[in-house]
Amino acid sequence: MCGIVGSIGRSDDTVDVLMDGLRSLEYRGYDSTGIALGPKLQVLRKSGELDALTEVVNANEPTGTYGIGHTRWSTHGPPTDRNAHPHTDENGRVAVVHNGIIENYAELKSELEAQGVTFSSDTDTEVVPHLIAQRLADGVDAETAFHETVDRLDGSYAIAAIIDGEETIYAARQGSPLVVGVGDTCTYLASDVPAFVEHTRDVIYLEDGQRVRADADGYTVFDDDREPVEVSIETVSYTAEETGKSGYDHYMLKEIHEQPTALRQCFSGRADALEGTISLEEVDEIPQPDAVQFVACGTSYHAALYGASILRETGVPAEAYLASEYALSPPPLSLGTLVVGITQSGETADTLAALRDAQSRGVTTLALTNTVNSTAARECDHAVYIRAGPEIGVAATKTFSSQLVGCNLLAEELVDGQRDLRPLIESLRGLPDDVQSILDSSAAESLVDDYADSDAYFFIGRGTNVAVALEGALKCKEISYEHAEGFPAGELKHGPLALVTPDTPVFAVVIGDDERAQKTLGNIKEVQARGAPVIAVTDGESAADEIADETLMIPETSERAAPVLANVQLQLFSYHLADELGRPIDKPRNLAKSVTVE
Ligand code: AGP
Repeated sequence: MCGIVGSIGRSDDTVDVLMDGLRSLEYRGYDSTGIALGPKLQVLRKSGELDALTEVVNANEPTGTYGIGHTRWSTHGPPTDRNAHPHTDENGRVAVVHNGIIENYAELKSELEAQGVTFSSDTDTEVVPHLIAQRLADGVDAETAFHETVDRLDGSYAIAAIIDGEETIYAARQGSPLVVGVGDTCTYLASDVPAFVEHTRDVIYLEDGQRVRADADGYTVFDDDREPVEVSIETVSYTAEETGKSGYDHYMLKEIHEQPTALRQCFSGRADALEGTISLEEVDEIPQPDAVQFVACGTSYHAALYGASILRETGVPAEAYLASEYALSPPPLSLGTLVVGITQSGETADTLAALRDAQSRGVTTLALTNTVNSTAARECDHAVYIRAGPEIGVAATKTFSSQLVGCNLLAEELVDGQRDLRPLIESLRGLPDDVQSILDSSAAESLVDDYADSDAYFFIGRGTNVAVALEGALKCKEISYEHAEGFPAGELKHGPLALVTPDTPVFAVVIGDDERAQKTLGNIKEVQARGAPVIAVTDGESAADEIADETLMIPETSERAAPVLANVQLQLFSYHLADELGRPIDKPRNLAKSVTVE
């Protein structure tokens, strides 16, 4: 998983275009960065974040009319200068950037080494420039050399290559995202649209197996038989401003504050409050499934837990599975089962593998995703978009909230019946204002002073709020690097209670005043008896706010909508804790936004 970018057809600002493109792709990895420029091939690369490469660029002042760039999340080889992309052949004639994993690289490397080629990195990628260079040395033209090399690769890749003196970029996609930006006089290539959206919003989403030749006169897309293919150009709806920080210190904070808009967009036009009906036209021909299996990872898995829980409430058997486990030990399914992949990016390799496994067993698949035309959206039988807008911060925030609303829309569309949905619709429609009121008044930041020195942070909830507890803990550990765990509240006494001390604050999500809430109050008392401070995240219906040491209030709403609100309070706590601790919030160590390796 990495980000790649390319630009051709501009005269004097290619370096800026590539560097700006890499800046917007840093969410895909930030272990090292690099660029290669032509027609006189120059390669500059550096371990560390983009600022390190900026210093190298400023010192060398490279120029070029076209080029490629890369930001790396290490898979093969540590994050060192020698493993930074672009990689070249021994003579520095070919430069290549790559996102993905070349599975047969060891075999190709042995073959090349047996022929006397010396490798200068530990990466799988380096076989590519050597293979291209070999074919060039054999007298084959550049385009054929590229195609023949790509034909030899197994695995997943988005690759871009330039060759000294050839005013062309060659690129190929197989299993890793690659989009082409179509400008008036320039062509761009990137792992994701934000890399060039300030220059053009006209985009071609390449299919697996497709390849591209781009030069100053435009571009041609080929299939894997090297035949030119017709492609459609789509215009993305978002602008460069929407992918910037808009004055916030971090993308994460901006995206937390964008939740009212994201939720409005997700819900808009999909429910009729007067009639009390919900309709998702993307899936309205799907009959009520016998069962639903959700597959997802990380935050999206927490949304899947929530989705499965609300579907079960409507009487449909539903389970959430970690996508990374699903294909390896697939659960039984009948042909009437619907498998739903929840994935913000639509590119998570584990989730794609699980969906492909389900498809291979003949069932209907559906992607609930934020990314239009993502691999999940294209490969599944159906796609429902959560319409949250671009999310750049590695920590998922607004997409999680929108996934929860998306699960409600999906559940109500899938389940046949004549229930009056007006109360649910009312509460979902009220979410943007309710979230805004939390953003305007949250006490989460004020808790940080008292709790920033804690040994660990625990999060508990019951029912759909188990997903909130797990997500609260994931967010906390992901961006603050502090130990955090989430538990179903009833599980505490079966083990985790041993960890509870006066230095481990417990966040308890208590919504309403039903039996679950009452039992959670009991759990609060259990941890308080061990000296742990308790922060209740509550709507004030139960006595939670009276019992707890601190309270994060949420507006009263339906049981389905409340988890969205409770989660916003926990997002804010984690954000401010991480900020207090000086963490690199948008780019937590070892992580990347889009995890395209299994
Ligand atoms: C969320 O904060 C994480 N960065 C991560 O768990 C993420 O949700 C997971 O990798 C799944 O990503 P996806 O939704 O794009 O499939």
